[in-house]
Amino acid sequence: MLEIKNLSSGYDGPDVLHNIDLEISPGSLVAVIGANGAGKSTLLRTISSLIKSRSGSIIVDGKDLTNAGPGSMVSHGISHVPEGRQVFATMTVAENLDLGAYRTSKQVAGERLDKVLEIFPALKERLSNIAGALSGGQQQMLAIGRGLMAEPKYLLMDEPSLGLAPIVVQTIFDILPNLAKGGVGVLLIEQNGQIALSIADRAVLLERGHITIRGTGQELLKNPEVIERYLGVGNSIGANPEKQSVMSVRIRTALGPEDSGLFLRTKSPV
Ligand SMILES: Nc1ncnc2c1ncn2[C@@H]1O[C@H](COP(=O)(O)OP(=O)(O)OP(=O)(O)O)[C@@H](O)[C@H]1O
Ligand SMILES: [Mg+2]
Repeated sequence: MLEIKNLSSGYDGPDVLHNIDLEISPGSLVAVIGANGAGKSTLLRTISSLIKSRSGSIIVDGKDLTNAGPGSMVSHGISHVPEGRQVFATMTVAENLDLGAYRTSKQVAGERLDKVLEIFPALKERLSNIAGALSGGQQQMLAIGRGLMAEPKYLLMDEPSLGLAPIVVQTIFDILPNLAKGGVGVLLIEQNGQIALSIADRAVLLERGHITIRGTGQELLKNPEVIERYLGVGNSIGANPEKQSVMSVRIRTALGPEDSGLFLRTKSPV
């Protein structure tokens, strides 16, 4: 279990995160949704020890790793895929993936590579390509693949859908629940609340650094306050009809036939 207790952190100024309590069990997918600047990325950076927490604790499988440093978090099974598809553009796909497996033997790295290429077959054909020449979707797959090369117990994903075509978004969001089913604890940060909530076991709404609503993914999808403020017209998918149709199918499937009317009543994109 990854336990975040009463966590506060920030940069030079005042606290950005305030008293965050959150638990991620192995095999579950937890989504954090919230507006621009709410502190979502800051939360992941604090968990992976890229920035220091000012109070509270981060406990990984019973071990207190508060402010243990990024290397220690990685070696205790925390893998952070940052926002913005940060691949090493001038290195090959294979080299990028290999970097994710540092501190492991060649043999183990090879076994992990096979697993990652099974999840992302598109990378298999491009192992010797320069990462900077990949499409946005392939780069995101590479960034996730590199995170998986550490064979994490807990995967922290920052906005994997950002700027990607709907079909690629769908591929990536199909993979995340499968990773969770395979035993990984996935913490998924998303501005695109609908799709994240539709695949999440549990979810929280982060507003100005505070968790204000928590529940199952389904509960948040149906929560009138969440719908009004985060899932309505004008949110990140509202303007793109193609994206809307992909999302609406997924949300309807997640909600079942009885509940999908709720979205029509609230004039949301579906
Ligand atoms: N490197 C930094 N130095 C100083 N302040 C920062 C830094 N990164 C973020 N902040 C501030 O912390 C607050 C939370 O930012 P954060 O990036 O965590 O939000 P977010 O929820 O991830 O937003 P977005 O959806 O735009 O990615 C904002 O007020 C932001 O200006
Ligand atoms: Mg962010």
